[in-house]
Amino acid sequence: MHITMIGGGYVGLVSSACFAEFGTDVTVVETDARKLTALHEGRMPIYEPGLDKLVIENVRAGRLTFTGDLAGAVRGAEAVFIAVGTPTRRGDGHADLTYVYAAAEQVARALSGYAVIVTKSTVPVGTSRAIAEIVRSVRPDLDFDVASNPEFLREGNAIGDFMRPDRVVIGAESDRAREVLRRLYRPLYLIEAPIVFTGIETAELTKYAANAFLAMKVTFINEMADLCEKGGADVHDIARGIGLDGRIGRKFLHPGPGYGGSCFPKDTLALVRTAQDHGAPSRLVEATVAVNDARKSNMAMRVINACGGSVRGKTIALLGLTFKPETDDMRDAPSLSIAARLAGDGAILRAFDPEGMDQARPLLPDGVQYCRDAFDAADGADALVLITEWNEFRALSPARLRAAMRGRVLVDLRNVYDPVAMRQAGLDYHCVGRPNLTQG
Ligand SMILES: NC(=O)c1ccc[n+]([C@@H]2O[C@H](COP(=O)([O-])OP(=O)(O)OC[C@H]3O[C@@H](n4cnc5c(N)ncnc54)[C@H](O)[C@@H]3O)[C@@H](O)[C@H]2O)c1
Repeated sequence: MHITMIGGGYVGLVSSACFAEFGTDVTVVETDARKLTALHEGRMPIYEPGLDKLVIENVRAGRLTFTGDLAGAVRGAEAVFIAVGTPTRRGDGHADLTYVYAAAEQVARALSGYAVIVTKSTVPVGTSRAIAEIVRSVRPDLDFDVASNPEFLREGNAIGDFMRPDRVVIGAESDRAREVLRRLYRPLYLIEAPIVFTGIETAELTKYAANAFLAMKVTFINEMADLCEKGGADVHDIARGIGLDGRIGRKFLHPGPGYGGSCFPKDTLALVRTAQDHGAPSRLVEATVAVNDARKSNMAMRVINACGGSVRGKTIALLGLTFKPETDDMRDAPSLSIAARLAGDGAILRAFDPEGMDQARPLLPDGVQYCRDAFDAADGADALVLITEWNEFRALSPARLRAAMRGRVLVDLRNVYDPVAMRQAGLDYHCVGRPNLTQG
């Protein structure tokens, strides 16, 4: 079986490598010359654990190839996946479908025989049908189907998520399209991964519903953390106390600086707009977006307050810049608003992230000093802020941190440190939603 993937980013590259590992021949089309060169040279254009090995092995086995020539790549493909970006459209919050529609048109011009055109990108309800219209208008003669197969992988654990998914959702209308996709995903039948076959609109909306629900859960526990701080309760015990209820579940109940990343912010916003357009506004998702935005901008105030009300002239070390560990993705990372506000208030910023510094440089304020490691960042700092909980930050010696720093403020926005050990080392420790552990 031969398929084509349009877009070799986080989703396109990981899914292609995994499909190839299942035994399918996959051609990835990528327009970004820098990414394409890297892939041809065996270098990964993104950081994702295990991806380099999987890609290199499948390239060697002849099942995975990369090209900039879309027309050549789709010829003879049984399925063509569109996995290009759907960022927020400037000005109105809708998903920007420019890349998706451009790819659909290019695919339509190039196809030589029957294929299923599958949207893997996260797209608003109705998009796949609009793609079908585009294809029909460009190539009235073409025999094709459209399908929706949204992707649920998480950056940082993308290969595991793709190979052992909680579920696969496929929206398709013809038996022929369902059969192509069933064959493609057959290796997952063997491990009994649930495959939900449904309508195209339902598949499209399922993806937004999943992300909005998770974003709501994160935002809920963050609000509870704020209330804990005022009311003297411990948010970790609350998360455990409610999470052990099987109807609620324990995941996504970790308080922090607000959700960020390449999906939740743009997808919640796009769902809000879609719901409004359809005359069925989603008040819960609207509130989630507003509460999370406010939280992200309030995070810098926590640091400023911990520093006595002003950071002017103070040196602040930021540990972790990416929106979560095990990725180099900086899209909508909470570190961006924190750094912008602190720098705007006159702080001198030092920063370290294990994988994200190249991506961070063009996005963070000028003048940020990029460091070799956590202790280098802490060197001479008045305050240290843990923003992203990379494993290598979890076991830092409090005594060494204290010795490296000039001041003693430690703001832990992920609650990874032991408050007692931090205080014993002489650090003025602040965490989220655990007031009795913060005041020593
Ligand atoms: N990143 C995630 O964790 C994740 C998870 C699930 C779903 N998604 C969704 O998947 C889609 C892709 O996300 P991503 O993070 O992989 O984006 P990305 O920006 O990393 O990758 C998109 C790639 O497509 C390429 N591209 C654009 N137009 C092209 C064209 N016409 N031909 C060939 N290549 C083209 C770009 O150069 C880019 O490399 C989005 O809709 C996103 O919401 C992302």
